[in-house]
Amino acid sequence: MKLSVIGCGYLGAVHAAAMASIGHDVVGIDVDQRKVDALAQGIAPFFEPGLPELLKDGVASGRLRFTTDMCAAADATVHFIGVGTPQQKDGYAADLTYVDAAVDALLPFLKPGDVVAGKSTVPVGTAARLAERVTPTGATLVWNPEFLREGWAVKDTIEPDRLVAGVPTDGTGRADADGERAADVLREVYHTAVATNTPFIVTDLATAELVKVAANAFLATKISFINAMAEIAEVTGADVTQLADAIGHDVRIGRRFLGAGIGFGGGCLPKDIRAFSARAEELGRGESVSFLREVDAINLRRRDRAVDLVVDALGGSVFEKRITVLGAAFKPHSDDIRDSPALDVAVRLRGLGASVVVTDPEAIPNAKAKHPQLTYVEDRDEALTDADAVVLVTEWDEYRRQLSPEHASSLTKGRIVVDGRNGLDAAAWRAAGWSYYGMGRP
Ligand code: UGA
Repeated sequence: MKLSVIGCGYLGAVHAAAMASIGHDVVGIDVDQRKVDALAQGIAPFFEPGLPELLKDGVASGRLRFTTDMCAAADATVHFIGVGTPQQKDGYAADLTYVDAAVDALLPFLKPGDVVAGKSTVPVGTAARLAERVTPTGATLVWNPEFLREGWAVKDTIEPDRLVAGVPTDGTGRADADGERAADVLREVYHTAVATNTPFIVTDLATAELVKVAANAFLATKISFINAMAEIAEVTGADVTQLADAIGHDVRIGRRFLGAGIGFGGGCLPKDIRAFSARAEELGRGESVSFLREVDAINLRRRDRAVDLVVDALGGSVFEKRITVLGAAFKPHSDDIRDSPALDVAVRLRGLGASVVVTDPEAIPNAKAKHPQLTYVEDRDEALTDADAVVLVTEWDEYRRQLSPEHASSLTKGRIVVDGRNGLDAAAWRAAGWSYYGMGRP
């Protein structure tokens, strides 16, 4: 099939490359010339395991092209909208400027029978509004939310755990004739996933938009729930990691996303829960999701807690202490530093007068551009040298599994480790003579 993907950021670049890899003829379109030039040479503009290979293969096969020229969409029959929906500068709501601009730019190239599939995360009601513009062209607007995780984006795109297609419906919520046809077009697009019986859920437009924000709101709530338990554990001497293991055995609860620590960040969960709250307020249902404000507040408190732990461990002041911060990315397997709890902790420690040294296997260039005031050292061991305290904030294997406390002892001055992700073997670090501080652990 001939596909266009509008917006070649995280979502769009991966989607375009993945669709080419399953046999489609794909053009990725973006307004950023530099990004397009890199992608066209098969170079990923961000770190994502597996993406460089997919890009190179796609470009070499001739099935994957990138351009800034929207005219290229004219040949395609299915158009994916994958542009960003960041948080507005002056509020909690999502900024829909890029989605509106992408659809407006695409309109002149749409033909009767085309399908426009929105993938961006949008406030419920956006698709219905956009459909009013798309429908007069004879094309059909559907919403096809994306659930990929950074670091696993290629796998999540090619082998998703479910596919959701929000389509036009009749008055009773059933897909109408255009909706049925558009859902069939999406089944054809995702033929490899459909062939392996991946659940394919057809809904109306509003439900599809809500599925996405509900999923992220649930995940954020799960993380803040366990972090709230960590706060209680901290005043009772309990261990939140054992608590998570124990409740996680209940299949109704499940252990995943019960990792207590410095909380969630990134380009999705924080802004999505805020946009959801803002949209619910607009709809007169703010109270239905008012708990999301608490989810956000718990999450942000954990960053304070990590900073307080470091200060306390160093005897009440970090002034002029050398502190090695292991990690800058918002999570491992990513170079993304958007709303990164790791960097936030580093910046706050520096604000308290510490001499902060940050290391990360992938995120240093991005971190340096955003926070040039911090000191960055690429080599982990060099970063650890002469440290008074070590703070783990992104649980890369390089720090969690491949750094032994004995080796760390041979480099650092002090023996204080604050484990902001509860990722280290506390007993092993203590046995090696370290004062170990976890999050929500005795
Ligand atoms: C998230 C969702 O997991 C994806 O399903 C969704 O498609 C994506 O947002 C999106 O909307 O585009 P992502 O932002 O890549 O994916 O990251 P997650 O793996 O969800 O992690 C988010 C944050 O939560 C990270 O900072 C991570 O360190 C933190 N986290 C995760 C915890 O603090 N504890 C946990 O137990 C799990």
